[in-house]
Amino acid sequence: MKSFAVFLSAFLLASAALADVHEISTPSTTLLLRADVGDFPRYVYYGAHLKSSDIATLLDTRPAEVAAYPTYGLDTPSEAAIAVTHADGNMTLDLKVRSVEEKAEPNGILTIVHTEDPVFPFQLDLCYRAYDDVDVIETWTEMTHQEKKPVLLRMFASGTLPLRRGNVWLSSLHGTWADEGRVCEEPLTPGLKVIRNRDGVRNSHTSHAEVMFSLDGQPQELTGRTVGAALCYSGNYRLRVQTDDSDWHRFFAGICEENSEYRLAPREKFVTPVLALAYSAEGMSGVSRIFHRWGRTYKMAHGKQPRQVLLNSWEGVYFDINEDGMHQMMRDIKDMGGELFVMDDGWFGDKYPRNRDTCSLGDWVVDRRKLPNGIPGLVKAAKEIGIDFGIWYEPEMTNSTSELFEAHPDWVVKADKRNLVYGRGGTQLVLDLANPKVQDFVVGLFDELMTANPDVRYVKWDANMSIMNHGSQYLTRDLQSHLYIEYHRGFAAICDRIRAKYPDLVIQACASGGGRANWGVMPWFDEFWVSDNTDALQRIYMQWGTSYFFPAIAMASHISAAPNHQTFRVIPLKFRIDVAMSGRLGMEIQPKNMTDEEKDLCRKAIAQYKEIRPIVQMGNIYRLLSPYKHQSLASLMYVSDARDKAVFYWWKLETFMDEHLPRVPMAGLDPNATYTVRELNRIDNNPLPFEGKSFTGAYLMANGLEIPYTHDVDYHKRIAWASRVLLLEKE
Ligand code: DGJ
Repeated sequence: MKSFAVFLSAFLLASAALADVHEISTPSTTLLLRADVGDFPRYVYYGAHLKSSDIATLLDTRPAEVAAYPTYGLDTPSEAAIAVTHADGNMTLDLKVRSVEEKAEPNGILTIVHTEDPVFPFQLDLCYRAYDDVDVIETWTEMTHQEKKPVLLRMFASGTLPLRRGNVWLSSLHGTWADEGRVCEEPLTPGLKVIRNRDGVRNSHTSHAEVMFSLDGQPQELTGRTVGAALCYSGNYRLRVQTDDSDWHRFFAGICEENSEYRLAPREKFVTPVLALAYSAEGMSGVSRIFHRWGRTYKMAHGKQPRQVLLNSWEGVYFDINEDGMHQMMRDIKDMGGELFVMDDGWFGDKYPRNRDTCSLGDWVVDRRKLPNGIPGLVKAAKEIGIDFGIWYEPEMTNSTSELFEAHPDWVVKADKRNLVYGRGGTQLVLDLANPKVQDFVVGLFDELMTANPDVRYVKWDANMSIMNHGSQYLTRDLQSHLYIEYHRGFAAICDRIRAKYPDLVIQACASGGGRANWGVMPWFDEFWVSDNTDALQRIYMQWGTSYFFPAIAMASHISAAPNHQTFRVIPLKFRIDVAMSGRLGMEIQPKNMTDEEKDLCRKAIAQYKEIRPIVQMGNIYRLLSPYKHQSLASLMYVSDARDKAVFYWWKLETFMDEHLPRVPMAGLDPNATYTVRELNRIDNNPLPFEGKSFTGAYLMANGLEIPYTHDVDYHKRIAWASRVLLLEKE
C-alpha cells in the first residue's frame, strides 16, 4: 500500500502540467479533488477553507494523494469503494475521468466528476454538492452502463474520505432498544473497523450511520479539528475505516452490500445515498452545529418551524384507549399549557381489536367499541378543548392475525418455500414495500385519514420489526437480493407521495424508540422518538450522543412517570422536566395520576419552555461537560444565532457526601456582551445567588457560575437529585 502513495507522487511530478484540481468549498471548508482526464480521480485535501494562494502553493508542494473512489480489480489488495462483475464475468473496474462539470444550484455548487471504464461501457459520476451557507459537502455516486446484460454491483459505497494518520479518534453511537445513541470513543488503530446495520427496516438502534473523527487526539467538544460524516440512508448501511501501512485512514460509507448485490440492468441508473461531510476546528460541538444547521435548513421536514408541546398517550394508558380517557388526557395537557395530543397504539381493529401487540396492524379502522365517534369525534373534541390532534400508525407492518393479512398474504416479506418468522407479539410481519400495491395501500391510509380528518396535525409513524425473512413475494427470483434496497425505495416513494399531498402534516419517525434517527428519513419527518426509554438519567446519555448529529428540534423528549416504566428508577419531577426541556419537550404520562403540585410544576415548565423554544430548537449547541467523562455532572447549552440569548443545562448525575463537582465554564456567548441570568423551573425556596445578576460573556465563558449542589427546599422535600436550567439574556 505504501507504494501506492509513492507511485502517486512520482506520477504527479510527471503530470503536473495536466493537473486539473477542483476546489469544492463551503464558507469555511474546502475539499480539493484532482480529476485529470484519462486518469482516476484523486483526493488532495479536506479541511479548513483554503485561500487560492494556499491551494496553489499546496499543489506546488506535490501533496500525497489518494484515490477518491478506489475500484476493485486492478489493485486488488486495496480496500475498494466499488466492485462489479461485468456482463461477461470480468470482475475488474477501472474508472477514468472523462470530464468535470460544475452546476450552479440555488444554494451552492454541484461538481460532477464523470468517469468511465476504458474497456467496458460502464460510467460512474462522482457527485459533490457544496453549500454556500452551511459547511456541509454532500457526496454520492450515480452509475449506469450499456453492457449487453446486467452488471452485478457487489460493492457500491456512496463516498470515501482519506484521513491523515496521526492520533485520530473515532466517535460513534451504539446501543440497543431502550439504550440508543450511546457514545463510543476509540483511537483508530491498524485493521478494519466496520460499523454496519442489517435490520432491514430501522437502522439506528444498535449503531448509527453517523460518525466523527477527532484529528487531534482524544475527542474534545469545543476544540480540535473534527470531521463528521453522516450517511443519509434509511436502510442497511456499512461504514468502514481501513488503516493499513499507508499514511492514511480510509473511510468508506454506503449501503450495506451484504446480501444486497444489485443486478444493474443496461441503461438503468443506480444512485447511492448521500454521504454528508462536515469539518470544524471547534471540536465535536462545532461539527454538531454544522449538521444541525444543515439539517434544519435542508434535510428535515419543517426544520424552521417550532415544534408543539404534546402529550402522547402511550405510557399513560398503553392499549387502554377509550373516548373518555382520550378526552381527559386532552383536557389535562391543555390545562398544563400543551398544544397537541397524540393518541398512540390501541385505537384500531374491527374483527381483531388491538388490545395487545399480537394483532390488527394493517386494519386501520377505528375500534368503535373504544371510540364510538371515531377519529372525527376526537378531532372535534380536541378542537373544542383548544389543542391539535395527532395519531399513531405503524404503516409498514401487519400481523398474521389481521384482516389485511387474511386478504393479502402475498403482501408480506416472506421467503419462498419457508415458513414465516414473526416479530413483535409473535405475529408481526413486515409488508413488502417493494410491491407498488403495498405502496398504494400505505399512501391510501394517509388519504383516508386526511380526507375524513383534514385537521389532523400529527402522525406518529412507528416501525417495530426487522426484516426477519429474506424474500420478496413481489420481486422476481433473480432479483431477490434487491429486497433491502427495493424496500427502502418503496419507503421513499411512499414518503414522497405522502409529503406531496400533505406537506404540512407533522410526522414523527418512531421505530421501537430510536430506530429511525437518521438523516435518510428526516427529509420526510419532523422529528424522531429518541428512545422508548424515558428514564431522565439514561436519557441524558442517549440525548447527548444523539445530539452529536441531530438538533434538539428533531429529538422528541418526554416527561414520564416515576417510577420510570423502563428502569423503575424514581426520579423527581423537577429533574425529569429539566432533561426533557433540552429537546423537543413533550409528556408521556397519565396526567390524572399527577398531583396538583406536579401539574403546577409542569404548567410552569411548559410556559417557560415556550419562552426558550426558539433558542433550544433553533439555537447552536455547545456541549460543555460530558456525562461520559465521569465527573458526576453533565452540562450543555444552546445559544441563539444572534448570541443574545442562551439556555444552560446542568444535571447532577449522582450524589455523594463530600462531593466536589467541577464548575462548568460556558461557551458560545459574545464575550463583550453582558447577560442577565434567570433560573427556570425553580423549586428552591430562595433564588440562586446570581439570580437576576449580570455577567459578561467573557466571565461566563472563563469561569462559569458556582451552582449549588443541592436544592434549597423544605426538609421533607429534600431530594438526592439536582438540576438547573438557566436562561441568559443579553442586556
Ligand atoms: C413502540 C414505540 O416506540 C412506542 O412509543 C409506542 O408507540 C409503541 N411502539 C406502541 O406499540
